[in-house]
Amino acid sequence: MSTITLKPVTPHNREAVCALQVHPHQSPLIASNTESMRNADISPTAVPKAIYRENELVGFLLYQPRGNNVFSLHRMMVDANHQRQGIGQVAINLAIQEMEELGATTIYISFLPENDAARALYESVGFTYQETEEDGEIVYRFCVK
Ligand SMILES: CC(C)(COP(=O)(O)OP(=O)(O)OC[C@H]1O[C@@H](n2cnc3c(N)ncnc32)[C@H](O)[C@@H]1OP(=O)(O)O)[C@@H](O)C(=O)NCCC(=O)NCCS
Repeated sequence: MSTITLKPVTPHNREAVCALQVHPHQSPLIASNTESMRNADISPTAVPKAIYRENELVGFLLYQPRGNNVFSLHRMMVDANHQRQGIGQVAINLAIQEMEELGATTIYISFLPENDAARALYESVGFTYQETEEDGEIVYRFCVK
C-alpha cells in the first residue's frame, strides 16, 4: 500500500479539492466539496484536510471540535476513481489520530441510512451506532480509549 497523508487545504490545492467527484449515485448522499469549503471558510474551528496518496490528491475530509473534547467528522469522501482501495480507511484513521492529538475523547459522525459504504467504512474503524435523528440521519460515535 502506498503512503496516505492528510494535508491542509490551501489556495494551492483548493480548486483541485473542489473538483474531486464521487460516483453519480453517491452525490445525493454528501455535500459537495465546494459547499463544504464555503462552510469551513465561515467556521474558524473547522479543519478541512486534503487526502493524498503519495503526491496525488484523492479525497477530502473535514472535522471540527465541538467543545469538551468532543469532535465531529463532518465530511469524508474519496474520489470515485480511487474508491475501494483502502484509502478511506487509512484516511479516517489518520483523522482520528489528529483529533486525538487535539484532545478528542469522543468523535461523532452522521450519514444517511442508505449510505452503505459510509456505514461499512465507519464500522470497520470502530464507530458504533448512537442514535437516529428525527430527519432519519444515522449518528455513530467513536470513543478514544
Ligand atoms: C465512504 C467512502 C469515503 C469510502 O472510501 P473508500 O476509500 O472507498 O473506502 P475503503 O476502500 O477504505 O473501504 C473500507 C471499507 O469500507 C466499506 N466500503 C467502502 N466502499 C463500500 C461500498 N461501495 N459498498 C460497501 N462497503 C463499502 C468496506 O467495508 C471496505 O472494506 P473492504 O474493501 O475491505 O470490503 C467512499 O465510498 C465515498 O467517498 N463515498 C461517497 C461520499 C460519502 O458518502 N461519504 C460519507 C458521507 S457521511
